[in-house]
Amino acid sequence: MHPKNDKKVINVSCVHQCAIVKMRSSGGFIALYNYPYEASLAQSSTQSIKLSATQPGWVRITHWINALAVVVMVTSGWQVYNASPIFPALVFPASITLGGWLGGALLWHFAAMWVLVANFLIYVAMNIVSGRFRRKLFPLSVKSLVGDLRAALTGKLKHDDLSHYNAVQKAAYLAVIVDIVVVILSGLAIWKSVQFPLLRDLMGGYDNARVVHFFAMSFLVAFFVLHVVMVALVPRSLLLMIRGR
Ligand code: HEM
Repeated sequence: MHPKNDKKVINVSCVHQCAIVKMRSSGGFIALYNYPYEASLAQSSTQSIKLSATQPGWVRITHWINALAVVVMVTSGWQVYNASPIFPALVFPASITLGGWLGGALLWHFAAMWVLVANFLIYVAMNIVSGRFRRKLFPLSVKSLVGDLRAALTGKLKHDDLSHYNAVQKAAYLAVIVDIVVVILSGLAIWKSVQFPLLRDLMGGYDNARVVHFFAMSFLVAFFVLHVVMVALVPRSLLLMIRGR
Protein backbone atom coordinates (compact mmCIF):
# COMPACT_ATOMS: atom_id res chain seq x y z
CA MET A 1 0.00 0.00 0.00
CA HIS A 2 1.24 3.50 -0.73
CA PRO A 3 0.81 6.66 1.27
CA LYS A 4 -1.70 9.21 0.13
CA ASN A 5 -1.46 12.94 0.67
CA ASP A 6 -3.75 12.91 3.66
CA LYS A 7 -1.38 10.64 5.59
CA LYS A 8 1.22 12.00 7.95
CA VAL A 9 4.29 10.53 9.55
CA ILE A 10 3.72 9.75 13.19
CA ASN A 11 6.91 7.94 13.99
CA VAL A 12 10.19 7.27 12.24
CA SER A 13 12.87 4.96 13.41
CA CYS A 14 15.91 3.76 11.51
CA VAL A 15 17.81 0.55 12.02
CA HIS A 16 20.57 0.31 9.46
CA GLN A 17 18.82 1.23 6.26
CA CYS A 18 15.64 -0.58 7.20
CA ALA A 19 13.76 2.10 9.06
CA ILE A 20 10.21 1.29 9.82
CA VAL A 21 8.22 4.34 8.84
CA LYS A 22 4.77 4.41 10.38
CA MET A 23 2.15 6.34 8.44
CA ARG A 24 -1.30 7.22 9.70
CA SER A 25 -4.07 8.14 7.30
CA SER A 26 -6.93 10.46 8.19
CA GLY A 27 -9.05 7.37 8.63
CA GLY A 28 -6.73 6.07 11.35
CA PHE A 29 -5.01 3.46 9.19
CA ILE A 30 -1.38 2.68 10.03
CA ALA A 31 1.01 1.33 7.40
CA LEU A 32 4.61 0.31 7.80
CA TYR A 33 7.17 1.20 5.15
CA ASN A 34 10.55 -0.37 4.84
CA TYR A 35 13.25 2.28 4.26
CA PRO A 36 14.97 2.81 1.82
CA TYR A 37 12.87 0.71 -0.52
CA GLU A 38 9.60 2.55 0.07
CA ALA A 39 10.67 5.70 1.85
CA SER A 40 11.03 7.77 -1.28
CA LEU A 41 7.29 7.38 -1.91
CA ALA A 42 6.52 8.23 1.67
CA GLN A 43 8.81 11.24 1.55
CA SER A 44 7.07 12.79 -1.41
CA SER A 45 3.78 12.75 0.44
CA THR A 46 4.88 14.18 3.77
CA GLN A 47 6.14 17.48 5.10
CA SER A 48 9.14 16.19 6.96
CA ILE A 49 10.77 12.86 7.46
CA LYS A 50 13.84 12.49 9.63
CA LEU A 51 16.06 9.47 9.05
CA SER A 52 19.32 9.12 10.88
CA ALA A 53 22.04 6.50 10.59
CA THR A 54 22.36 3.96 13.39
CA GLN A 55 24.50 0.93 14.22
CA PRO A 56 22.53 -1.85 15.97
CA GLY A 57 23.77 -2.93 19.41
CA TRP A 58 24.76 -6.40 18.25
CA VAL A 59 26.93 -4.95 15.44
CA ARG A 60 28.70 -2.63 17.89
CA ILE A 61 29.25 -5.33 20.52
CA THR A 62 30.55 -7.94 18.05
CA HIS A 63 32.68 -5.30 16.26
CA TRP A 64 34.50 -4.20 19.42
CA ILE A 65 34.95 -7.75 20.77
CA ASN A 66 36.32 -8.69 17.33
CA ALA A 67 38.73 -5.73 17.30
CA LEU A 68 40.03 -6.58 20.80
CA ALA A 69 40.37 -10.30 19.98
CA VAL A 70 42.29 -9.46 16.78
CA VAL A 71 44.74 -7.23 18.68
CA VAL A 72 45.40 -9.99 21.25
CA MET A 73 45.72 -12.65 18.53
CA VAL A 74 48.09 -10.59 16.39
CA THR A 75 50.40 -9.42 19.20
CA SER A 76 50.57 -12.88 20.81
CA GLY A 77 50.99 -14.41 17.33
CA TRP A 78 54.05 -12.21 16.76
CA GLN A 79 55.60 -13.64 19.94
CA VAL A 80 54.85 -17.20 18.76
CA TYR A 81 56.35 -16.35 15.35
CA ASN A 82 59.54 -15.04 17.01
CA ALA A 83 60.20 -18.50 18.50
CA SER A 84 60.63 -19.86 14.96
CA PRO A 85 60.63 -17.08 12.33
CA ILE A 86 59.48 -18.00 8.81
CA PHE A 87 61.63 -15.16 7.47
CA PRO A 88 64.83 -15.08 9.56
CA ALA A 89 65.39 -11.40 8.77
CA LEU A 90 62.02 -10.51 10.29
CA VAL A 91 61.62 -10.64 14.07
CA PHE A 92 59.02 -8.60 15.96
CA PRO A 93 60.30 -6.29 18.76
CA ALA A 94 59.41 -7.68 22.20
CA SER A 95 57.76 -4.36 23.11
CA ILE A 96 54.90 -4.94 20.62
CA THR A 97 54.35 -8.61 21.42
CA LEU A 98 52.14 -10.23 24.06
CA GLY A 99 52.89 -13.18 26.32
CA GLY A 100 56.55 -12.66 27.24
CA TRP A 101 57.69 -16.03 25.89
CA LEU A 102 56.43 -18.83 23.61
CA GLY A 103 54.35 -20.62 26.27
CA GLY A 104 52.74 -17.42 27.56
CA ALA A 105 52.00 -16.19 24.04
CA LEU A 106 50.36 -19.50 23.09
CA LEU A 107 48.04 -19.22 26.12
CA TRP A 108 46.95 -15.73 25.03
CA HIS A 109 46.65 -16.87 21.40
CA PHE A 110 44.43 -19.87 22.21
CA ALA A 111 42.28 -17.95 24.70
CA ALA A 112 41.58 -15.11 22.23
CA MET A 113 41.05 -17.66 19.43
CA TRP A 114 37.82 -18.96 21.02
CA VAL A 115 36.57 -15.41 21.54
CA LEU A 116 37.38 -14.45 17.93
CA VAL A 117 35.80 -17.55 16.38
CA ALA A 118 32.61 -17.50 18.51
CA ASN A 119 32.14 -13.74 18.13
CA PHE A 120 32.88 -13.80 14.40
CA LEU A 121 30.37 -16.62 13.84
CA ILE A 122 27.70 -14.65 15.73
CA TYR A 123 28.49 -11.49 13.69
CA VAL A 124 28.36 -13.32 10.34
CA ALA A 125 25.27 -15.41 11.21
CA MET A 126 23.28 -12.40 12.44
CA ASN A 127 24.27 -10.35 9.39
CA ILE A 128 23.17 -13.14 7.04
CA VAL A 129 19.92 -13.95 8.87
CA SER A 130 18.90 -10.29 9.17
CA GLY A 131 19.76 -9.63 5.52
CA ARG A 132 22.07 -6.83 6.71
CA PHE A 133 25.07 -8.08 4.70
CA ARG A 134 22.97 -7.92 1.52
CA ARG A 135 21.76 -4.41 2.31
CA LYS A 136 25.05 -2.95 3.59
CA LEU A 137 27.73 -4.66 1.49
CA PHE A 138 25.88 -5.20 -1.80
CA PRO A 139 25.55 -4.40 -4.62
CA LEU A 140 29.25 -3.88 -5.29
CA SER A 141 30.52 -3.38 -8.83
CA VAL A 142 34.03 -2.88 -10.20
CA LYS A 143 32.83 0.40 -11.74
CA SER A 144 31.58 1.81 -8.42
CA LEU A 145 34.75 0.59 -6.68
CA VAL A 146 37.04 2.27 -9.22
CA GLY A 147 34.95 5.47 -9.09
CA ASP A 148 34.87 5.65 -5.28
CA LEU A 149 38.55 4.72 -5.02
CA ARG A 150 39.46 7.53 -7.40
CA ALA A 151 37.26 9.95 -5.44
CA ALA A 152 38.83 8.79 -2.15
CA LEU A 153 42.37 9.25 -3.42
CA THR A 154 41.58 12.76 -4.64
CA GLY A 155 39.78 13.70 -1.42
CA LYS A 156 36.41 14.01 -3.14
CA LEU A 157 34.59 11.12 -1.50
CA LYS A 158 31.50 12.36 0.39
CA HIS A 159 30.78 11.12 3.93
CA ASP A 160 27.48 12.93 4.49
CA ASP A 161 25.37 9.79 4.67
CA LEU A 162 26.78 7.38 7.23
CA SER A 163 23.88 4.96 6.80
CA HIS A 164 25.43 3.78 3.52
CA TYR A 165 28.89 2.34 3.00
CA ASN A 166 30.68 3.53 -0.15
CA ALA A 167 32.15 0.95 -2.56
CA VAL A 168 35.63 1.21 -0.99
CA GLN A 169 34.22 0.49 2.47
CA LYS A 170 32.11 -2.38 1.11
CA ALA A 171 35.14 -3.96 -0.61
CA ALA A 172 37.38 -3.46 2.44
CA TYR A 173 34.83 -4.96 4.86
CA LEU A 174 34.13 -7.92 2.56
CA ALA A 175 37.87 -8.49 2.10
CA VAL A 176 38.60 -8.42 5.83
CA ILE A 177 35.70 -10.80 6.55
CA VAL A 178 37.10 -13.28 3.99
CA ASP A 179 40.59 -12.69 5.41
CA ILE A 180 39.44 -13.55 8.94
CA VAL A 181 38.04 -16.82 7.55
CA VAL A 182 41.45 -17.55 5.97
CA VAL A 183 43.24 -16.65 9.24
CA ILE A 184 40.99 -19.02 11.19
CA LEU A 185 41.26 -21.91 8.69
CA SER A 186 45.04 -21.63 8.24
CA GLY A 187 45.42 -21.39 12.03
CA LEU A 188 43.32 -24.54 12.41
CA ALA A 189 45.51 -26.30 9.82
CA ILE A 190 48.62 -25.42 11.87
CA TRP A 191 47.11 -26.18 15.29
CA LYS A 192 45.41 -29.48 14.36
CA SER A 193 47.29 -30.46 11.23
CA VAL A 194 47.04 -34.20 12.01
CA GLN A 195 43.30 -34.07 12.75
CA PHE A 196 42.48 -31.98 9.64
CA PRO A 197 44.63 -33.50 6.86
CA LEU A 198 42.34 -32.20 4.08
CA LEU A 199 42.57 -28.65 5.40
CA ARG A 200 46.34 -28.99 5.77
CA ASP A 201 46.61 -30.23 2.16
CA LEU A 202 44.35 -27.41 0.94
CA MET A 203 46.80 -24.99 2.57
CA GLY A 204 49.67 -26.67 0.69
CA GLY A 205 51.00 -28.61 3.70
CA TYR A 206 51.97 -27.61 7.25
CA ASP A 207 54.83 -25.27 6.33
CA ASN A 208 52.76 -23.52 3.69
CA ALA A 209 49.84 -23.16 6.11
CA ARG A 210 52.21 -21.11 8.30
CA VAL A 211 52.99 -18.86 5.33
CA VAL A 212 49.27 -18.50 4.49
CA HIS A 213 48.58 -17.67 8.17
CA PHE A 214 51.39 -15.09 8.16
CA PHE A 215 50.16 -13.28 5.03
CA ALA A 216 46.53 -13.37 6.16
CA MET A 217 47.71 -11.79 9.44
CA SER A 218 49.65 -9.17 7.44
CA PHE A 219 46.52 -8.26 5.48
CA LEU A 220 44.57 -7.96 8.73
CA VAL A 221 47.21 -5.62 10.17
CA ALA A 222 47.25 -3.51 6.98
CA PHE A 223 43.44 -3.31 7.11
CA PHE A 224 43.60 -2.34 10.79
CA VAL A 225 46.00 0.57 10.13
CA LEU A 226 44.06 1.89 7.09
CA HIS A 227 40.72 1.36 8.84
CA VAL A 228 41.79 3.39 11.89
CA VAL A 229 43.13 6.18 9.61
CA MET A 230 39.84 6.26 7.66
CA VAL A 231 37.84 6.31 10.90
CA ALA A 232 40.01 9.17 12.19
CA LEU A 233 39.15 11.14 9.03
CA VAL A 234 35.42 10.70 9.73
CA PRO A 235 35.14 10.82 13.55
CA ARG A 236 31.31 10.81 13.40
CA SER A 237 31.51 7.17 12.24
CA LEU A 238 33.37 6.30 15.47
CA LEU A 239 30.63 7.92 17.58
CA LEU A 240 28.12 5.87 15.61
CA MET A 241 30.04 2.66 16.26
CA ILE A 242 30.28 3.50 19.99
CA ARG A 243 26.88 4.91 20.94
CA GLY A 244 24.82 3.62 18.01
CA ARG A 245 23.44 6.98 16.80
C1 HEM B 1 41.31 -5.64 13.08
C2 HEM B 1 40.36 -5.11 13.82
C3 HEM B 1 39.12 -4.60 13.16
C4 HEM B 1 38.33 -5.23 12.26
C5 HEM B 1 38.54 -6.62 11.67
C6 HEM B 1 37.24 -4.33 11.94
C7 HEM B 1 36.26 -4.61 11.03
C8 HEM B 1 35.21 -3.79 10.73
C9 HEM B 1 34.11 -4.13 9.89
C10 HEM B 1 33.95 -5.48 9.17
C11 HEM B 1 33.26 -3.10 9.88
C12 HEM B 1 31.90 -3.03 9.17
C13 HEM B 1 30.92 -3.40 10.28
C14 HEM B 1 29.52 -3.60 9.77
O1 HEM B 1 28.87 -2.62 9.40
O2 HEM B 1 29.06 -4.76 9.78
C15 HEM B 1 33.83 -2.06 10.70
C16 HEM B 1 33.28 -0.81 10.90
C17 HEM B 1 33.83 0.15 11.72
N1 HEM B 1 34.97 0.02 12.49
FE1 HEM B 1 36.17 -1.55 12.56
N2 HEM B 1 37.40 -3.18 12.65
C18 HEM B 1 38.51 -3.31 13.42
C19 HEM B 1 39.04 -2.40 14.30
C20 HEM B 1 38.52 -1.14 14.49
C21 HEM B 1 39.10 -0.12 15.37
C22 HEM B 1 40.38 -0.29 16.20
C23 HEM B 1 38.30 0.97 15.29
C24 HEM B 1 38.46 2.28 16.01
C25 HEM B 1 39.29 3.19 15.64
C26 HEM B 1 37.21 0.65 14.38
C27 HEM B 1 36.19 1.49 14.05
C28 HEM B 1 35.17 1.20 13.19
C29 HEM B 1 34.11 2.11 12.85
C30 HEM B 1 33.95 3.53 13.39
C31 HEM B 1 33.29 1.47 11.92
C32 HEM B 1 32.08 2.04 11.20
C33 HEM B 1 32.77 2.92 10.18
C34 HEM B 1 32.07 3.11 8.98
O3 HEM B 1 31.00 3.70 9.00
O4 HEM B 1 32.67 2.69 7.98
N3 HEM B 1 37.39 -0.62 13.92
N4 HEM B 1 35.02 -2.51 11.21
